[in-house]
Amino acid sequence: MPAEGANVPTQLQPRTQPSPRRTAERPAIVLESVERAYDRRDGSVVPALAGISLRAAAGELLAVVGPSGCGKTTLLELICGLQAPDGGTIACEPAVLMPQRDLLLPWLSALENAALALRIAHVPRAQARARAAALFAELGLDGFEDGRPHELSGGMRQRVAFLRTLLSGKPVLCLDEPFGALDAITRGEMQEWLAATLAREPRTVVLVTHDVEEAILLADRVAVLSPRPGRVVAQLEVALERPRSRTDGEVIALRERALSALGMGARR
Ligand SMILES: Nc1ncnc2c1ncn2[C@@H]1O[C@H](COP(=O)(O)OP(=O)(O)OP(=O)(O)O)[C@@H](O)[C@H]1O
Ligand SMILES: [Mg+2]
Repeated sequence: MPAEGANVPTQLQPRTQPSPRRTAERPAIVLESVERAYDRRDGSVVPALAGISLRAAAGELLAVVGPSGCGKTTLLELICGLQAPDGGTIACEPAVLMPQRDLLLPWLSALENAALALRIAHVPRAQARARAAALFAELGLDGFEDGRPHELSGGMRQRVAFLRTLLSGKPVLCLDEPFGALDAITRGEMQEWLAATLAREPRTVVLVTHDVEEAILLADRVAVLSPRPGRVVAQLEVALERPRSRTDGEVIALRERALSALGMGARR
């Protein structure tokens, strides 16, 4: 059997024609009435998610927004099979998590960090490095292959972490606040970069963010969660052409609707 990730392309293929991100209505992720609670050491129980029903079609970018502590990371870990639900069902194509913190290994170079998923899948070292190296230039990282994580900017570290996630070869990418720690300018650049990368290398993506505007700029659909325990309080379709502009009237209107679902309409 070939090693996992062996079919990962060595180049991101540009599309000749723009096409919708949603490549099929085939569901890639189906959550039905999912419940998750944590037992605490003092014997109390923290309900994190309650009655979550969500779907994502293959090729869809589903954004999940919600207040801190409402269960967003828990949701991604459930989708990736890193923890099990207490109730309900989850059906999902193989999924990989890009964690909330980049978790690059400080003793490895940027290239070795990016190639890590391939190495874990037993792809030989030279081959894994070659595959990661082929994508470095396309992700704006060429020249930094040998840099250690502390020598990279925050945006570069996130790109290396994203490349590692992409090279896992899994069809579903779960991105947990990928740009949360970045300044506003780098964040905007990274949003554009992610949109362009996914246009060339489509995957099903669940993007967790606390930034409603980011969700609307990038997603096909936005699920809004309530405060803990997280419930889906709204789902907004974002049927707008890409690239999208912050100042577009429809983007602003959707942002208002999402903020209102979050109960933040009157506070701004
Ligand atoms: N391992 C754990 N043990 C006990 N409680 C936990 C555990 N992991 C998460 N929780 C609790 O579950 C709730 C949801 O946590 P989670 O990390 O999923 O939220 P989140 O929406 O990702 O938050 P943030 O936006 O701050 O990252 C929180 O109240 C958290 O304290
Ligand atoms: Mg989280």
